[in-house]
Amino acid sequence: MGIGGMSQTSTGSLSRAIRQQLEGLERAGLTHLPRRKSPRADQSPRPLATSPAAPTENFVPKPKLSPVSASPTLAAPFSPISQPVQPEIKLSRDDRTQRLAVLNETVKQCQRCSELASTRKQTVFGVGNAEARIVFIGEAPGADEDAQGEPFVGRAGQLLNKIIEACGMKREDVYICNILKCRPPGNRTPAPDECVNCREYLLGQLGTIDPEYIVCWGTVAAQNLLSMDWTIGKMRKRFYQFGRAKVLCTYHPSYLLRNPAAKKDVWEDMKLLFADMGKTLTP
Ligand code: URA
Repeated sequence: MGIGGMSQTSTGSLSRAIRQQLEGLERAGLTHLPRRKSPRADQSPRPLATSPAAPTENFVPKPKLSPVSASPTLAAPFSPISQPVQPEIKLSRDDRTQRLAVLNETVKQCQRCSELASTRKQTVFGVGNAEARIVFIGEAPGADEDAQGEPFVGRAGQLLNKIIEACGMKREDVYICNILKCRPPGNRTPAPDECVNCREYLLGQLGTIDPEYIVCWGTVAAQNLLSMDWTIGKMRKRFYQFGRAKVLCTYHPSYLLRNPAAKKDVWEDMKLLFADMGKTLTP
């Protein structure tokens, strides 16, 4: 037996797992692990409220849409963007699935945010294709997600499913996760220190899946992933770079439930995304 009663074999596999995890984080652009306790919730960016409105039948807006006016730009000046990109190392689907499972086990035990850990029913890690070309990032689990342990299964999730289908994909084609893996009580806005605490898990997911594209749904996802304080309206309609992935930011499905007129904007963003992927979305 080695240290702390561990056999040499289990010590070896533990250090291998830790090394693999760190390599994944590095591929996602991590240069240091967050330690600081950041400011209180009342200093956090103010995202859109989450109270939903009536569901709509279809996602694709009825009127004819005008062509996208803004040309996509690859922005460079923001902190995660200027990280050096690691040489490509392709992981097999099995490796990715296993790494995500290991990370999920860590997340299940997480006690970093005492309020969230004591109020959650369960953690909500992520779901979908470990080899997805696109990762969708939302804000945090709500009541339905907390109950079911899967992101985007409530009304916002149903609208997200319609958006996915309108784009000619299935939910299983993408990977879906959130900035926070625990539900904030009462669906309050995630506090900055909670986002910092959870960032390592998100970077682990991104480093493992290594997607070509990331879509940030809403202000909390966009501002936290890209470390920016712009409004979501200003962040839309162009690409940012995060590690090897191109990032598109758009309105959160919960916002669309309350403001159906904004669906046409999200549809424009989806057309921009898919045009970049080589696929034309109609209408
Ligand atoms: N809103 C989110 O941002 N994420 C979910 O998982 C559900 C609703």
